[in-house]
Amino acid sequence: MSLEDRTIIITGGTSGIGEGCTRHFAELGAKVVTSSIQRKVGKEVQQELRAAGHDVTFLYADVRNEEEIVALIEKTIDLHGRIDGVCSNAGTWIEGTVEDFDDGQWDLVMGVNVRGNFLLAKHVVPVFREQGEGVMLITTSTAAYVGFPAHALYCASKAALVALIRCLTKDHGGYMRCVGICPGTIDTPMLAASAEGFDQPLDELYAEVAEKIPVKRLGTPVDVAKAAAFLLSDDAGFVAGSSVFLEGGTLALPPW
Ligand SMILES: NC(=O)c1ccc[n+]([C@@H]2O[C@H](COP(=O)([O-])OP(=O)(O)OC[C@H]3O[C@@H](n4cnc5c(N)ncnc54)[C@H](O)[C@@H]3O)[C@@H](O)[C@H]2O)c1
Repeated sequence: MSLEDRTIIITGGTSGIGEGCTRHFAELGAKVVTSSIQRKVGKEVQQELRAAGHDVTFLYADVRNEEEIVALIEKTIDLHGRIDGVCSNAGTWIEGTVEDFDDGQWDLVMGVNVRGNFLLAKHVVPVFREQGEGVMLITTSTAAYVGFPAHALYCASKAALVALIRCLTKDHGGYMRCVGICPGTIDTPMLAASAEGFDQPLDELYAEVAEKIPVKRLGTPVDVAKAAAFLLSDDAGFVAGSSVFLEGGTLALPPW
């Protein structure tokens, strides 16, 4: 498996899973364009990885903004001449049942998680068609398959992506592979934020959660990055349209 000299765009690439992908793909020799709305952190990650000899560029882009998505794609092509893979990973989360949300929350969660992926796909498909090849990974979640308590908006947004992955595969499968990455409980800033409502120290809470996961630990960003690297590589050439679960066996548990 190799990503040597492959040009890979990562959205949400400066925190958690996306940062893990940025670091791992760079170590595998990819030309990484990492992107997010964290300008300061992005520049720091770029500086650190370039100093270590890696080909990493940070570009600011809010995935809800079509002009910024277009600029991200155009600047990547200006820099590297092509795009081999896109790791569409930016995501956001708001807690609440269906009675709690307002229009602003709907626009935020659906805007980042669903519209952001539509916009990225809309503008990367023509590039892949022109090249005759390309891979788009979309980060969904086990939340697409399980009703997480008080996560109605988030779960609905992630389930929409499972359908989008199938449609991209049906409509464009001749020249691009689209595959879902479906993480379970991964130790990231987003997970820590979701734990803030619990009246318990984080390490205690994580230890309890880990005990419930069949492999007895939380996932790490590197766990996801290693799978993503495989899915981006030619070794995964027959994987398309499905979502790959990285959840330590959680979905194998019986419902009682
Ligand atoms: N951590 C988990 O347990 C878990 C589980 C399942 C799925 N996921 C999904 O994995 C992805 C990464 O999550 P994480 O846990 O690493 O979260 P994180 O909060 O650590 O990172 C999220 C990244 O997305 C970026 N982002 C947020 N809004 C953006 C926007 N409008 N435009 C561009 N970038 C934006 C942030 O800047 C950040 O870099 C998300 O799609 C999330 O839903 C996470």
